[in-house]
Amino acid sequence: MGDKIRVGILGLGRISTLHLQAYKPENKMNAEIVAICDKNKKRLKQVADEYNVEQTYSNVDEFLKNNKIDAVEILTPHHLHTEHTIKAFRAGKHVSLQKIPALTLSDMDKMIEVSKNTELKFRIFENFRFYEPYMKAKGLIKQNVIGKPVKIDYQMLSAEKSLSAWDVPLKSWQWRLTEKGNYKLPTIFDDGYHKHSIIAHFFDEPVKSVIAWQGKTKVFNVLDWDIPANIIYTFKDKSHMATWSISMHKFFPMQSKYYGCDEYLTIYGDYGAIYMPGCTGSLYENCDNSAPGKAGIHWIDKEGKWHSDLNVNTDWANSFVNCSREFIEAIREDRQPEVNPIEARYILQISLAIVRSLRNNYREIKVKDIEDKP
Ligand SMILES: NC(=O)c1ccc[n+]([C@@H]2O[C@H](COP(=O)([O-])OP(=O)(O)OC[C@H]3O[C@@H](n4cnc5c(N)ncnc54)[C@H](O)[C@@H]3O)[C@@H](O)[C@H]2O)c1
Repeated sequence: MGDKIRVGILGLGRISTLHLQAYKPENKMNAEIVAICDKNKKRLKQVADEYNVEQTYSNVDEFLKNNKIDAVEILTPHHLHTEHTIKAFRAGKHVSLQKIPALTLSDMDKMIEVSKNTELKFRIFENFRFYEPYMKAKGLIKQNVIGKPVKIDYQMLSAEKSLSAWDVPLKSWQWRLTEKGNYKLPTIFDDGYHKHSIIAHFFDEPVKSVIAWQGKTKVFNVLDWDIPANIIYTFKDKSHMATWSISMHKFFPMQSKYYGCDEYLTIYGDYGAIYMPGCTGSLYENCDNSAPGKAGIHWIDKEGKWHSDLNVNTDWANSFVNCSREFIEAIREDRQPEVNPIEARYILQISLAIVRSLRNNYREIKVKDIEDKP
């Protein structure tokens, strides 16, 4: 396919900045943004001016009637995903849908069903899989450098205030704190999708059950936040496990170009380990090579030799460029883009099992027991 894929962006909220930037000419995407849609007319005009997009819409149905759009990136709040995705397929557009794909498995199944009756591509946008240190780690695991993963520790640190971070409008958080919009779990349910996706990606076997614990922290003096928290993931092989632990700080001396949080991912294998300081924020960028380590990827191999690759791109925004490119190239090459809807459904099932565990006294919940809702 020679021509560029013509993309429409639906939803121009906080995260749209990184989607819009991914299509900038310097990223040499075989695609261009031809239309944008948001019900917020002020934001619509602001984006149209900044990115020079002529075709603007405040109504989804009108936007989808535009036959110049080949593919849509859907970036609206989760509870609108099913409606917007089904409408996009009925209008003949390929769909890249931001996580979380849906709030229930039945909604997810409705989208899968509609997409199956078309020739159109359907993928869930999960950019952490396209974060370069994680891509490198996947390669090292495939090459058997640390053996089979036996334990993953995913640590996350979140701060109400840090040395630098994005301004996130209160209304971007508000729908995440509602039951209907996000089970009132802004970190555990929303951001958690990335964490379960990454854990599932590195372990080549399904998560069997989860055990979830949460505390709470008052932030900005008014909002009840759902962390600190600790999630345990178990596998059929009882010698394997993963954890995701999150702390919340009133202030942390961290720089971030994006949200006020950062991650540290460690994968322990049969005979080695991989350490990846940093992801969303820039907490580790200026650390020297001693503990906890500089942003990038470090590993110890079977012979006990330490290695570091600090040339991988550690800017979180780059994962959005890579993830958008995957969608565009998959359309051009007529193949399924990652993350495919069946795997995305399984990751959603893990998310819902965690909600059920929190609501049942932190009980262990089998992932396969989730049939629709938490
Ligand atoms: N991959 C990531 O790391 C990441 C990070 C943040 C958000 N997200 C996901 O992106 C999506 C959006 O999140 P956000 O933080 O940008 O939210 P947001 O609230 O900042 O933005 C949502 C936008 O959708 C618009 N909108 C709502 N209803 C609409 C409608 N009916 N028609 C047209 N526009 C409508 C709103 O006006 C708003 O501009 C969510 O699914 C979220 O989970 C992903």
